[in-house]
Amino acid sequence: MVAARLAVLGRGRVPAGEAVLRGDDLGVLRGDGLFETMHLRSGRPWLREAHLERMARSAKAVELPLPPAEALVALLDEVAEGWPVDVEGALRLVCTRGPEGGGPPTVYATLAEVPASARDARRDAITVATLPLGVPARARAGLDWLPAGVKSTSYAVSTAARRWASRTGVDDVLWISSDGYALEGPIANVVWLAGDVLCTVPAADTGILPGTTAAWLLAHADEAGLGADERMATPADLVAADGVWFTSSVRGLVEVRALDGVDRPRSAYTGRLQALVGFPVPSG
Ligand SMILES: Cc1ncc(COP(=O)(O)O)c(C=O)c1O
Repeated sequence: MVAARLAVLGRGRVPAGEAVLRGDDLGVLRGDGLFETMHLRSGRPWLREAHLERMARSAKAVELPLPPAEALVALLDEVAEGWPVDVEGALRLVCTRGPEGGGPPTVYATLAEVPASARDARRDAITVATLPLGVPARARAGLDWLPAGVKSTSYAVSTAARRWASRTGVDDVLWISSDGYALEGPIANVVWLAGDVLCTVPAADTGILPGTTAAWLLAHADEAGLGADERMATPADLVAADGVWFTSSVRGLVEVRALDGVDRPRSAYTGRLQALVGFPVPSG
């Protein structure tokens, strides 16, 4: 097990247990902050630029002054330096609004091994239950005051959904809009195969988080002999789909093997798509 790491902007590497936030940091008091989680592979953050671009878009949307991109890159380099190339890492970059009453943002990066449970899910696939989110699919994207598609540290709704999943005995949750469309999971996007077209939910129309993993996968779908499209789907469409997966930066691409208790046949495309996105699948 490789020891977890921590680096703080302006301070460099510090012991992983070191205190970083003040008690009045708005990231803690209000969940007023942004983060990105990246997959460290071969010692380097995969899709780093896409993550930094999403953080910059999020920062603009919530009017949070980010340090220059070069400083963030240097911080990521610092925390990842010397990490064993054969160990997958979960690299998190956090930027809060800083102390109450005005203060510079608190910016730090953490790095830890990808948990075995996340790696095992690539091999074993996951069970998923739908959960109503209580809003129409296109409602949030239409509200110009609401920063949609922002990777905020406010994860109360997501953690509540994950607790619900655990109480219900499923591995994960798929949020459904009040008008009956699949949106996303609390920490993942949904991707499915309709014939020979790989699909995901349009983030711009729905206000879901535009996933870096799903975007990369769809942009490279032709390498698996597939087309790509963003479209809306109902749970019934997903049950009938030729394959359904959840995508995210650390767990990678995991197949949904049951949706609302209905078992799905395993897709022949799972291995091919996992090889394409380059997340190692444990054997055994
Ligand atoms: C709500 C939500 N949707 C989607 C994703 C997947 O995004 P990405 O592939 O960029 O990790 C995440 C990742 O944490 C998430 O929290």
